[in-house]
Amino acid sequence: MTTPQKIAVVTGSNRGLGYAISRKLSQIGISVILTSRNEIDGLAAKQQLSDEGLDVDYYLLDVTSDKSVQQFTEWLRETYGKVDILVNNAGVNPTTKPEESSLLTVQLETMRSTFETNVLAVLRISQALIPLMKVQNYGRIVNISTEMASLTSILSDYYPLAPSYRLSKLGVNGLTVLLGKELQGTNILVNAYSPGWMKTDMGGDNAPFTAEEGAETAVYLATLPDGGAQGQFFAEMRKFGGPIQLQW
Ligand SMILES: NC(=O)c1ccc[n+]([C@@H]2O[C@H](COP(=O)([O-])OP(=O)(O)OC[C@H]3O[C@@H](n4cnc5c(N)ncnc54)[C@H](OP(=O)(O)O)[C@@H]3O)[C@@H](O)[C@H]2O)c1
Repeated sequence: MTTPQKIAVVTGSNRGLGYAISRKLSQIGISVILTSRNEIDGLAAKQQLSDEGLDVDYYLLDVTSDKSVQQFTEWLRETYGKVDILVNNAGVNPTTKPEESSLLTVQLETMRSTFETNVLAVLRISQALIPLMKVQNYGRIVNISTEMASLTSILSDYYPLAPSYRLSKLGVNGLTVLLGKELQGTNILVNAYSPGWMKTDMGGDNAPFTAEEGAETAVYLATLPDGGAQGQFFAEMRKFGGPIQLQW
């Protein structure tokens, strides 16, 4: 079964940026599958969007689990027959304890678990869902990164060191470039962007911008026209008033 309406999957969309992206995509008529690793939180988030009259489906998805991603992919294939948009939003930033702020003291286990969620899970779900894009030669993949992870910003030392987070997002950036090259010649476009510092559980109350503002570039990249950007890195649109590419 295939359906003509655009289907978007947003990982970790029960709160924060993922929720804001789901809301914005629904508001422009895209059928969103909100996903979360905690069913109660996810169903509550879906209910909030449904109460606004938005078209949202829900599925329980832990992006770090092979089994969970496999079950989700099967369900998607049977229910929708395809996927048009994948937003790799789920992420962790464990840089809260002082020892995690330095490469000299950070626990390898912290590095491992951060890479598991922020990098390997992006690869896992991309590998699973790209076949459901290939069936129709259409796909838009949006990877959430951060300016803190560009080698340009690491070299400038402008941001405080957050090794597990920055290096994991550097991995996301590299993955975006390589995947973009592998997908060249197809109508599946993969790009990364930095949403800016946002008021979410991860960003904290002092952040200058909202998740809704951070979601703007995701919508832009999720709806790129055919022949649009491939394997590029974008800034948050709020900062520049439009889509601007960043230096890796
Ligand atoms: N906040 C910022 O200022 C900022 C800046 C730059 C980039 N980002 C990036 O933006 C993205 C969203 O961040 P946020 O600020 O919205 O963070 P957040 O409020 O902490 O939300 C993170 C989301 O990821 C989910 N998640 C974590 N591990 C998961 C897993 N294994 N499977 C499924 N979902 C999982 C969380 O689920 P639970 O509710 O179950 O924990 C939650 O829904 C992240 O990739 C982050 O690195 C954020």
